[in-house]
Amino acid sequence: MATQQLGTALITGASTGIGAVYADRLARRGYDLVLVARDEARLSALAERLGRETGRKVEWLKADLTAKTDLALVEQRLREDESLTVLVNNAGMSVAGTLVEGDIDRFQTMIELNVIAPTRLAAAAARNFAAARKQGAIINIASVLALAPELFNGSYSGTKAYVLNLSLSLQKELEAAGVRVHTVLPGATRTEIWARAGVNVDGFPPEMVMEVDDMVDAALAGFDQGELVTIPSLPDPADFERYSAARLALGPNLSRNRPAERYRTVRADAA
Ligand SMILES: NC(=O)c1ccc[n+]([C@@H]2O[C@H](COP(=O)([O-])OP(=O)(O)OC[C@H]3O[C@@H](n4cnc5c(N)ncnc54)[C@H](OP(=O)(O)O)[C@@H]3O)[C@@H](O)[C@H]2O)c1
Repeated sequence: MATQQLGTALITGASTGIGAVYADRLARRGYDLVLVARDEARLSALAERLGRETGRKVEWLKADLTAKTDLALVEQRLREDESLTVLVNNAGMSVAGTLVEGDIDRFQTMIELNVIAPTRLAAAAARNFAAARKQGAIINIASVLALAPELFNGSYSGTKAYVLNLSLSLQKELEAAGVRVHTVLPGATRTEIWARAGVNVDGFPPEMVMEVDDMVDAALAGFDQGELVTIPSLPDPADFERYSAARLALGPNLSRNRPAERYRTVRADAA
């Protein structure tokens, strides 16, 4: 049966928000699931509901992805489980406030969750998918802030720029092995992430905030259309294409054996 060939999707941060909606949609598409997060009660309730409603096999794995031993267990699962065909690298957090006045330890935890964990998990999944067969997909949840560091603090947007860079590079690395890397750049989406960071999302202009179901459905539509990068709210994809083209056009001049003319000093001229 077609659905049996889809395999299993492992989703991090699946207990609520964007990850929980991915879980719902992927189960309805016919994937079995492994749900990963810290909140056992929520994970088991979601697993039970999705299993009952879709008939899929839905497991859950309690893991704090900022804890080395927990992260290692999830990595091991991703490396060794041959039924896995999709990783949704979604778990993440934000810390509001400035670097100067904020809690530096929270910034570090955020970097561990938003950068270290998805890197290690993507590496484990990539090895499994590339070695076992020519299929599989890694879906990385970045943010539009990857493109707009001025809109929030640099630490959070920096973690998301990292995810975007990692994904763009990984796409090239895994292309030949037939492994897809899809990057999603959500704008403000109504989930708990805001309250967890002490920000009132209802204070934003309503036209800026997307409902989480709409966001994930759009991201999956982008996935189905074969996009490498999906920005769910962007009306004209040509805007992002122009941005990418401008970035790539810098390429030939980013590393040269001479400083640019405007930086040439007297010493350089004399040499
Ligand atoms: N909402 C937005 O506006 C927005 C915009 C752009 C990008 N994003 C990105 O989208 C992703 C999902 O965010 P969301 O809005 O859905 O956030 P959310 O509602 O706060 O959900 C975050 C998920 O991550 C899990 N999580 C948090 N800390 C964890 C840890 N240490 N170990 C394991 N799991 C952990 C949470 O579950 P537990 O608490 O049970 O562990 C939860 O399932 C994040 O990467 C976020 O940066 C969100």
